[in-house]
Amino acid sequence: MATMSMPIIQHGHHRGRGGSSSISLQFNMGRRSSTSIYQRTPVVAIFLAALLLSNILIYLYLDSVYQSDRQPVTTHNGCLAQYFKMPTMKNCTPWLQCPMIEADVRKLKLIGQGAVKKVYLAEWKGQKVSVSKLSSLNYSQDFLHGVSMLKALQGPLVVQLVGFCLKDHTMVTQYHPLGSLLNLNIVLAQEHQKHRNTWQTRLMLAIDYISILHYLHNSPAGRRVMCDSNSLEKTLSQFLLTNDFHLVVNDLDALPEVDVSRGLLVKCGHHEISGDFVAPEQLWPFYNKGKPFSDDLMHEYDEKTDIWKIPDVTQFLIGRVIGGDLIHFHLFQIHKECKSQDPKLRPSALDVLMIYKAVYSNMARNNGEFREKL
Ligand SMILES: Nc1ncnc2c1ncn2[C@@H]1O[C@H](COP(=O)(O)OP(=O)(O)O)[C@@H](O)[C@H]1O
Ligand SMILES: [Mg+2]
Repeated sequence: MATMSMPIIQHGHHRGRGGSSSISLQFNMGRRSSTSIYQRTPVVAIFLAALLLSNILIYLYLDSVYQSDRQPVTTHNGCLAQYFKMPTMKNCTPWLQCPMIEADVRKLKLIGQGAVKKVYLAEWKGQKVSVSKLSSLNYSQDFLHGVSMLKALQGPLVVQLVGFCLKDHTMVTQYHPLGSLLNLNIVLAQEHQKHRNTWQTRLMLAIDYISILHYLHNSPAGRRVMCDSNSLEKTLSQFLLTNDFHLVVNDLDALPEVDVSRGLLVKCGHHEISGDFVAPEQLWPFYNKGKPFSDDLMHEYDEKTDIWKIPDVTQFLIGRVIGGDLIHFHLFQIHKECKSQDPKLRPSALDVLMIYKAVYSNMARNNGEFREKL
């Protein structure tokens, strides 16, 4: 539009100065040839307006052609929403529903069990998949919440949903043979994986982990807190290690929403939480005074509980790899801020993410030097 309007202005300007174009002659019929520029201005204006209008019409036409040509929106796996495609598949397939799950998904063996679900390796049309079944009817609400969060949050940082059958309390997801993040050290100690046991792999996993927190705190389903994370082991068990050593979050059964504008805060469950791993605001404040726990007297809190836990998770992820000490040195200040007693003083996941990425690039740039010093 901008480039097309240039000649029009020049043209009009030229005509205004130079006298008689054929168009202005037509409009000026019957007038004296000495008509001033001011008298001719409406004619020029009408001409310009007509050209502008035709430009707009052409633009609208082209835009509509472009729109009708536009591909439907695809997601990160190259499929439409509510479709899945595992790396071994050629085509996108709609999420499996009850009859297909009942007919075509065959459980092979139990691979995991948490409080809410029993998880099986299973097979669907020659593909390995993971099938989760509700383990106790007491947790039905958590299970249904987990499925609805998986549906809402599908993307590169979340395990891929393959199908679900709510009446049977069953969900099917992509199978990740390396299992949960709890296995990290065992996996990286395997002979054929040893070459991956580097600060690069490990810091990248920490970056994935913070990226996931950032995603959950700013998700399409609002600001979500990762509540089922009262210990390091529990937290690690909620993430899966992909074959290319990235992370996806897998267990979304306890993701309550925080929305300050609606005065919405959270409590992670209704029982007393203890230990150093959880944020101080999650602890029963009258513990030292010997007062028995009462859920009614517990204050609510926000997503900054997830930020408090970052340094401990990162400590585990980095482990004892060469270069690890330097990473901890660079992260010292931001980790100190994550451990602020006052949640408001803790950084956002995005603040932490930017520091982690800067440390990675910095160390990657200096890696030559860094090796020489070893
Ligand atoms: N898609 C999967 N691929 C491989 N292992 C899985 C998969 N889903 C779950 N698991 C294993 O099962 C464990 C429990 O799964 P999770 O969804 O956290 O269940 P729960 O809600 O009972 O905690 C995980 O920690 C992991 O070891
Ligand atoms: Mg779990």
